[in-house]
Amino acid sequence: MIFIDACKRQPTPYTPIWMMRQAGRYLIEYMQTRERAGSFLDLCKNPELACEVTLQPVEILDVDAAILFSDILVVPMEMGLELGFYQGEGPRFSQTIRTQKDLLLLQEGAENRLGYVYEAIHRIRESLHQEKALIGFCGSPWTLATYMIEGEGSKTYAHSKKMLYGDPKLLHAILAQVSEALKGYLAKQIEAGVNAVMVFDSWAAALEESVYFEFSWEYMKEIASFIKARYPHIPVMLFPKGIAGFLDKIEGDFDVFGVDWSTPMDLAKAKLGDRYVLQGNLEPARLYDRAKMEEGVDHILSIMGKESGHIFNLGHGMMPDLPRENAIELVKMVRQKSAR
Ligand code: CP3
Repeated sequence: MIFIDACKRQPTPYTPIWMMRQAGRYLIEYMQTRERAGSFLDLCKNPELACEVTLQPVEILDVDAAILFSDILVVPMEMGLELGFYQGEGPRFSQTIRTQKDLLLLQEGAENRLGYVYEAIHRIRESLHQEKALIGFCGSPWTLATYMIEGEGSKTYAHSKKMLYGDPKLLHAILAQVSEALKGYLAKQIEAGVNAVMVFDSWAAALEESVYFEFSWEYMKEIASFIKARYPHIPVMLFPKGIAGFLDKIEGDFDVFGVDWSTPMDLAKAKLGDRYVLQGNLEPARLYDRAKMEEGVDHILSIMGKESGHIFNLGHGMMPDLPRENAIELVKMVRQKSAR
């Protein structure tokens, strides 16, 4: 698989490409399948339909990897927090974890209640072309904790930060419990057939440097080490979004570092390029305009070159109103411009 070769810095005929949130609302096919499922969460819990939407972007865009269709929030949901997704508002939990007593709401063994995910993985791996990789994923403990503490998406992370500075032990207890579930969850995804795993730390940029490393990166590293010790052949990819300022301190046992669009690629290459394969980082909004998209591709390829060590991706997820034609063109463009 060209994507897996690239994760291991082996030579490939071109720079492989896939896109974060490549399955989603910008595809009419996705909207139709979601309709048939009933709701977004019903879709996540339906292995047959989750398989269908996972494969859609592989067929439509011809990307080099599929990413399992699910959501990072199914883990806290299966730890016992009731989850809903609301039109125009995003996800919301009906209970929050803000006190020691609230911790009692969290149940162990969430990884054993996510059978619908493993079933989807089995189905996807059966239908996916053998040259295309399947990526499994989870959210980072910190990013998941913010949702569990706030109850929903947040601009200020006020409750989470109040706990971080006021009751750090409680936050560590939450992070440790989430981490245990995530280790089991990723291990089971691998046993079910995923070829690589990625950890999304979407709200990394909410934290100042010292606390970022203590409350987020340490837990990401711990999960990565756990997977590498058990499954050394499975590439581990970490994506802490928006931490360009902390790149000097990044280290750990993993394979691929996800570069977000706000981090200059030349900076990431200088600081991390020798040690990690870099994945990224086209600003997704460039897909609104064909010429700006090409300019972005040329810029990234001029830095990363045609040698191994790079996987092309967006610097964050596809947005629902991006034109699919440009996504299709992006894949062709990267493949053609990076051909060895
Ligand atoms: O194609 C893929 O990338 C695989 C599927 C995937 C989804 N969510 C599907 C989804 C993945 C990898 C995620 C990860 C995820 N989910 C993250 C981390 C990555 C990132 O974007 O930073 C986060 C923070 C979430 C939590 C989440 N899920 C939010 C905040 C929202 C609402 C915002 C939005 O985009 O609507 C979701 C919903 C969600 N997850 C959708 C999809 C396709 C849209 C749901 C719909 O169909 O209406």
